[in-house]
Amino acid sequence: MGYKNLTFPEGSLFLVTGGAGFIGSNLCEAILKLGYRVRCLDDLSTGKQRNVDMFIDDPNYEFIKGDIKDIDTCMKACEGVDYIMHEAAWGSVPRSIEMPVFYCMNNIVGFVNMCEAARQNKVKKFVYASSSSVYGDEPVLPKKEGREGNLLSPYALSKRADEEWAKQYTRHYGLDTYGLRYFNVFGRRQDPDGAYAAVIPKFIRQLLSGETPVINGDGKQSRDFTYIENVIEANLKACLAPSEAAGEAFNVAFGGREYLIDIYYGLAKALEIDREPLYGPDRAGDIKHSNADISKAKELLGYDPDWSFEKGIKEAIAWYREDLAPKA
Ligand SMILES: NC(=O)c1ccc[n+]([C@@H]2O[C@H](COP(=O)([O-])OP(=O)(O)OC[C@H]3O[C@@H](n4cnc5c(N)ncnc54)[C@H](O)[C@@H]3O)[C@@H](O)[C@H]2O)c1
Repeated sequence: MGYKNLTFPEGSLFLVTGGAGFIGSNLCEAILKLGYRVRCLDDLSTGKQRNVDMFIDDPNYEFIKGDIKDIDTCMKACEGVDYIMHEAAWGSVPRSIEMPVFYCMNNIVGFVNMCEAARQNKVKKFVYASSSSVYGDEPVLPKKEGREGNLLSPYALSKRADEEWAKQYTRHYGLDTYGLRYFNVFGRRQDPDGAYAAVIPKFIRQLLSGETPVINGDGKQSRDFTYIENVIEANLKACLAPSEAAGEAFNVAFGGREYLIDIYYGLAKALEIDREPLYGPDRAGDIKHSNADISKAKELLGYDPDWSFEKGIKEAIAWYREDLAPKA
């Protein structure tokens, strides 16, 4: 259970791309806490300087401001690296529908640059962020690897393409790649601002600041909301996975099912705010229900998530309450 007892060879160096973002900064923190070295590569396009500043005085932490679209930057960042956790990409289904060319360059070309740099630098393991969006319109629940439907957005396509590229790098060059299909991750440091913010931090911020949150659709859509601690565990365990499991993608979730409308009222209750939400149109490219079968990650990575939605949301609310409180 968990990841706090996992060990790597002494002095191991991890490269976390997108390490100034939500998931990446949590990975950096966990690696530092385990006592290993971490290099963060991020162009700060959606990430935050404060997620770098919080570690910058640690001698085991190094920051490179750079863009994965530039192969030379990727090559330099991979020098001497043992393990890569590749998180750098742009998220958001609706934004990808507005900017298809950028998503192709950033999420696919940038990804292949990182695979190539990892191969040339003989990195041991290349663990990367995929997404539950690769299941597209497949209606059968729970979602299971090998049963994917038609893709519904350029973002989903970029993640599916990444998985195929990773497979090629495993097949032809022996790079051990492991794709992690995250299902709606939430937790500390997830950005609550902007038009493309994820729903949990956005609702918390709106409720705390007196705004009325808008629910897209009828609120009866469901998701397998996954607490950040489970995602950290999956990444670290994938770095220790056998080569036989390389070239594969794995669902990373808790295996539960939460309805958006229940989340809204649960958050409002926890924050002691009595306010009805507004309802807006469905979002293009969204699916109605999504939850995961996590047996493949359990079997091949030893993934054994111990943070339920209920346990995680309590911690997340407490963190945002403090972070969003007016500063003196
Ligand atoms: N948060 C989720 O629920 C979720 C779900 C599925 C998949 N993912 C994937 O997980 C990864 C991390 O997501 P997140 O929620 O932490 O997002 P985030 O936006 O907080 O982090 C992404 C980071 O990547 C950096 N980045 C983007 N393009 C870059 C580039 N060209 N060069 C260097 N750095 C670049 C950004 O500045 C940012 O710091 C992404 O690949 C995302 O697609 C996230």
